[in-house]
Amino acid sequence: FMLKEIYEQPQAIIETLRGRISGDFNLIRLRGLNENLNFLKTVKKIIIIACGTSWHAGLVGEYLIEGISRIPVEVEYASEFLYRDPLISTSDMIIAISQSGETADTLSALKLAKQRGAFVYGICNVVGSSIARCAGVGTYTHAGPEIGVASTKSFTSQVTVLILISLFLAKLKKKITTAQFTSITKELFLISEKMKKTLLSVDNEIQQLSKLYEKAKNFLYLGRGISFPVALEGALKLKEISYIHAEGYPAAEMKHGPIALIDKEMPVIVIATKKGHYEKIVSNIQEIKSRKGKIISIITQGDEIVKELSDCYIEIPE
Ligand code: M6R
Repeated sequence: FMLKEIYEQPQAIIETLRGRISGDFNLIRLRGLNENLNFLKTVKKIIIIACGTSWHAGLVGEYLIEGISRIPVEVEYASEFLYRDPLISTSDMIIAISQSGETADTLSALKLAKQRGAFVYGICNVVGSSIARCAGVGTYTHAGPEIGVASTKSFTSQVTVLILISLFLAKLKKKITTAQFTSITKELFLISEKMKKTLLSVDNEIQQLSKLYEKAKNFLYLGRGISFPVALEGALKLKEISYIHAEGYPAAEMKHGPIALIDKEMPVIVIATKKGHYEKIVSNIQEIKSRKGKIISIITQGDEIVKELSDCYIEIPE
């Protein structure tokens, strides 16, 4: 089921976007946001609460919302948020993310935020679930049933909703030009096809790669910027499904300790696409190489520099 759901991601994205972007690519319709424009114009802070994979999606959301709409965002593990008497005000928006909509910690954290008068918003996959009902307003991801315990397509769909929210808020707060807005909304519709082609083209390489590294005891996943939470998510998937110890790290943090672990036995998966901090990630790869770590990179198609530095690479379209 997990593999099946990985291959369902291109369709899941289409379902998440369906009916939410206008035909001229210039408007986003999200239930609960369109009806609360006055509040959103002055929202002071957004707090995202979630667990596990949904928390990783929330971290991607932090980079997106802060980056595009310039509203401060905090991302909290629901379980920690709940037990530390958090500072919540009526000018805050709380976004609870949950595939199942039934995760107890996320539900309790949402209830707490609601009691304290914040504007609460749910991003759930399961229609009519407890978190969706408690939030009252929100967006369903419509990724389809997730049967595999390890979340895959629900992460992709959650990130898609967070992209829509960040664009919506950026437009409302006039932080984005119409040209930038429409170029991103148009691109969103192209991602599904790119994803479909990529999944098919990398299938073989990934199977070979797994055979090569199946005996490894540890893995490091590195990324910078928005790719950092993606690295965390990759490490979680490996632990959960292969019982191999894996850690996700922001690539630049490596020199503050984890670099000591790198030797010829340590495969390091580096998300090294051309968007965002590319030169810096190249220098992080050189550091790993000097310690003889095995580099498995995820690169932008045609990137000869990182390809040259890597033991294995997987190319993805820009
Ligand atoms: O249903 P939720 O999104 O609230 O579940 C939260 C986590 O338990 C979940 O994301 C978990 O980490 C993943 N299934 C791991 O792949």
